Amino acid sequence: MTRGLFILFEGCDRSGKTTQSTRLVEALNSQGIRAKLLKFPDRTTAIGKMIDGYLTQQNKLSDEAVHLLFSANRWEAMEQMRADLESGTTLIVDRYAFSGVAFSAAKRLDFKWCKAPDVGLLAPDRVFFMDIHPDDAAKRDGFGDEIYEKREFQIEVRVKFFSMMDNTWSIVDANRDKDEIHRQIMALTSKAFEKHSEAESPIKRLWA
Ligand code: TYD
Repeated sequence: MTRGLFILFEGCDRSGKTTQSTRLVEALNSQGIRAKLLKFPDRTTAIGKMIDGYLTQQNKLSDEAVHLLFSANRWEAMEQMRADLESGTTLIVDRYAFSGVAFSAAKRLDFKWCKAPDVGLLAPDRVFFMDIHPDDAAKRDGFGDEIYEKREFQIEVRVKFFSMMDNTWSIVDANRDKDEIHRQIMALTSKAFEKHSEAESPIKRLWA
């Protein structure tokens, strides 16, 4: 049995991750490839509800405390993610530990401290970085609704993302027509599947 691929979408706020990750799952399913969409934070769990309260400014938490909650929210999903991958389901994930580090480090928390709680999580096979300049993102509907959606802060977050990139990342210009972006993502995903079927590698651990 071939394991599923772990494909991650990262990016600043309003970069179109949710739209593109949803479309990718639909496209894969229609090709008969079993794929499932996951989103972090998962606001449906008890931990996720605390995060949601913080993001929508209903409750206050220290920067450190909310950082650890975001991480715990990923750890609570790990066992199911592993089971899905091992049973051949491809996971398309909307945000993960890189968002965790980028957003907290942009608040000036220590970069190494920020990475520590996520060390050992399952590592993605491919990361698609939906790149949009915060000035262009700010023109999109809904920008500014949540606590982090401020221009200067998003610029800082984008810099942090760039500092974490390695050869598993592809930068996707997100300031283009949605269909064009989708076509590029489909091409990148096909390539990832080809590589995976040639030499299947075990699921790696993040930053370990
Ligand atoms: P998300 O629900 O993806 O919001 P959106 O759909 O608007 O992009 O994420 C909510 C916010 O939480 C977003 O500003 C990024 C931030 N975040 C962190 O600060 N740390 C994390 O670990 C994650 C996953 C997200």
